[in-house]
Amino acid sequence: MKFLKFPNDFLFGSATAAYQIEGGNVNSDWWAWEREYAGKPNGPREMSGFACDSYNRYKEDFKFAQELNHNVHRMSIEWGRIEPQEGKFNEEEIEHYRNVLKSIKSHGMKTFVTLWHFTLPQWLREQKGWGNFKTPYYFARYATLIAERLGEDIDFFITFNEPHVYLALRHVIKIWIPYKHSTFLDFFEGWFGILKGHKEAVKAIKKVNHTFKVGICENIMCIEPKRAVWWNYILCELRKLFQHKIFLHFALKNCDFIGINYYFHDVVGIRNFFLKKDSLENKRGEVSDWGWEIYPEGIYKVVKEIAKFKKPIYITENGIADATDTKRESFIVRHLYWLHKAIDEGIDVRGYIYWTLLDNFEWAEGYIRKFGLIEVDRSHNLDRKIRPSAYTYAKICKEGGITRDLQEKYNLS
Ligand code: BGC
Repeated sequence: MKFLKFPNDFLFGSATAAYQIEGGNVNSDWWAWEREYAGKPNGPREMSGFACDSYNRYKEDFKFAQELNHNVHRMSIEWGRIEPQEGKFNEEEIEHYRNVLKSIKSHGMKTFVTLWHFTLPQWLREQKGWGNFKTPYYFARYATLIAERLGEDIDFFITFNEPHVYLALRHVIKIWIPYKHSTFLDFFEGWFGILKGHKEAVKAIKKVNHTFKVGICENIMCIEPKRAVWWNYILCELRKLFQHKIFLHFALKNCDFIGINYYFHDVVGIRNFFLKKDSLENKRGEVSDWGWEIYPEGIYKVVKEIAKFKKPIYITENGIADATDTKRESFIVRHLYWLHKAIDEGIDVRGYIYWTLLDNFEWAEGYIRKFGLIEVDRSHNLDRKIRPSAYTYAKICKEGGITRDLQEKYNLS
């Protein structure tokens, strides 16, 4: 058994998203929805409210990340803060994000910046969001502004986070607001709107500076047949086509990298081909607090498959809801073991970014899902406390690989 070393310039870190941690995002559509649907059947489980108050406490958070030896941090910018009214940009908020980015840098980390992580400015919600043919151009205008004003501190731009998750949860599975008002037509309008928005934003960012690195994040599941029969292979291929392949075929053309968010093992057969609310809580084997199967080998299979797009790969999210922190260490070590194997076999993976730095607002689930390397005490001043598993990950980040003792502990060979 030898030390499993990652490439020298490999990036290790963690991710966050503005709406989930900042608090007080009063100009965003999700904020308005929370209030509109509060108390109604299917309404939000919890309001985002102050979230982790990271809008004010970001320096403290980055200090933790530095202590944990992270050399990269993925964050997002809340469009509704930057452009609270159509065409009116808020200088104070631009300045705020400049300070946030400078702070990440001063804590020794590179920056991944997501421009859109599920939320829109409120004024765009009133104009049909991604279903409006003008939205891609509004998005490109916002992307230009960020590139011009903040680009010098952004190492990697991410246009969109997981377009398919957003569209499916809103318009197909319908557990994200606006629930039943949406139809398949909204799904397709949104699909084309986001693809167009992505392309326009990449163009806009490159126009500001052609050396800027731009990519997109997709949630890529490890899709495998339930039983090894030919029709299940066809169903798997269909799933892959609709969940990422067609979109990525068009989206990746002018991108510098792909960000993979890996969480799921999706075992497909005829009976579960159509996505349902609990499709992914398949409770096979070892599962997270949320009932998601833990399948580390899947990260290896996924990167091997996505390598066919011939773009450098970053794992921009991978994480577990584990309130008691009993499974997180093993989760991280085993996923990194399989990722290392893929790299060893020649796959161009350049970073691993754990989801997430802090326990935060988990969309429709509210605050019950604890994905954080750092626990946030919601009953006491949002106090932060580093979880034990975060120290093991810190050791991996520091050493740049998986030491023999960890491999022995988890029987990896
Ligand atoms: C999203 C995050 C979310 C995480 C855990 C990802 O799909 O990008 O916003 O918190 O999954 O559910």
